[in-house]
Amino acid sequence: MIKIGIIGVGTVGESVVKILQKNRDIISARAGKEIVVVKGAVRNLNKKRDVDIALTDNPYEITDDPGIDVVVELMGGVDEAYDVVKRALKNKKAVVTANKALLAYHRYELQNLAEDIPFEFEASVAGGIPIIKALREGLSANHIEAIKGIMNGTCNFILTKMAKEGVDFEPVLKEAQELGYAEADPTFDVEGYDAAHKLLILASIAYGIDAKPEDILIEGIKEISSLDFAFASEFGYAIKLLAIAKKRANQVELRVHPVLISKDEMIAKVDGVMNGISVIGDFVGETMYYGPGAGGDATASAVVSNLIDIARGGKCSPMLGFKRPLESGMTLASNDEIRVKYYLRVAVQDRPGILAKIAQLFGEHQISIESMLQKPKTKNTANLLLSTHECLEKDIQKALNELKNQDFIEEKPFMMRIEEN
Ligand code: NAP
Ligand code: HSE
Repeated sequence: MIKIGIIGVGTVGESVVKILQKNRDIISARAGKEIVVVKGAVRNLNKKRDVDIALTDNPYEITDDPGIDVVVELMGGVDEAYDVVKRALKNKKAVVTANKALLAYHRYELQNLAEDIPFEFEASVAGGIPIIKALREGLSANHIEAIKGIMNGTCNFILTKMAKEGVDFEPVLKEAQELGYAEADPTFDVEGYDAAHKLLILASIAYGIDAKPEDILIEGIKEISSLDFAFASEFGYAIKLLAIAKKRANQVELRVHPVLISKDEMIAKVDGVMNGISVIGDFVGETMYYGPGAGGDATASAVVSNLIDIARGGKCSPMLGFKRPLESGMTLASNDEIRVKYYLRVAVQDRPGILAKIAQLFGEHQISIESMLQKPKTKNTANLLLSTHECLEKDIQKALNELKNQDFIEEKPFMMRIEEN
């Protein structure tokens, strides 16, 4: 028998207890032993819960309990969760966590502290999809050329509804919160941080790179409007929030932002709360992973799979999959050198010569316009929806800086990158 304590009996924690109870037969057969929940920790002992387990409001009662073998951390947050998990490791307890924010900041310290103690985190990236196992074990023979993922269920749920039903942002976000997809603070979802946390975890397994959220380009979905969907539809694109890793020699681009991608790409067809991740290895080629990226049950499925691994005595050590550093080393590429096509929404005064002025300003920065749509805004103003040919990020940023100060500009221009293979 292995005895577990669950710190955080909320959306995911409750589902973990339910799976362990409902699927007890298959789980104990696969694990070779019973997995028993001894106690849970919550913040508010008076809250009504769907599961009936012994509760405490002191997480350290779990980390310090000599009768508990595995601590499951499902409380969320960074600093407090870090203290709790460190204490569990100090007490030589195996740890399972779904906390990507914690890992985005402290994965290397935790790897060092864990040494040979099992530390598993399958649920931290893409909920129910076993992407950690796929990358760390299944694809370990490959140099990873690229990872492109829809890794935030809340954003994908919102963008899909905006595209298909033309609904507004705020009510769909509320629906995602009610369904248990969103983070406790949903700005983490819609501003791209949650997807960035997940990308950083995958980047460590793929490249051995120790970057923090502050080091990479992160943009969210809040500024996307129905006009952008109109342009996307007209030119055969879908709009998705992508987390992207791209290897260029010994450097890797890491970025999270909304993109326009061809509707024909497999990842463009990943809708609703579903997540999809494409991983390209130098020998295997492209592999695709698809499944539910958020929600209590899907996430708990990954948590319980880690508990079964631990019960079986199997462990992957070190947790991030590199026994020693890559000889050639990998560093973070500069954002300036990103080279893609761009989409721009520019609200302007609708009078003769404005388009020519914009084209000239772009030309001065080696940027050429590929296509354009004009949508009337008011009687005397219009939205210009433009796409460019490929150019460098540093050039588009300089051009946008100049453009926003022109006297014919009505609002700060909005930019999205166009991601092509
Ligand atoms: P949640 O519903 O907000 O649950 C958090 C739980 O932790 C609650 O039971 C809360 O107690 C408890 N808690 C918080 N601070 C505590 C403290 N200081 N001491 C004791 N208990 C404390 O969150 P969730 O959605 O289950 O997410 C849990 C973790 O899984 C997070 O790291 C999240 O990022 C990750 N995750 C979530 C999903 C998802 O779809 N929801 C998917 C993948 C990963 P009360 O109940 O009393 O408030
Ligand atoms: N809030 C996250 C999402 C939960 O929407 O994808 C899964 O990590």
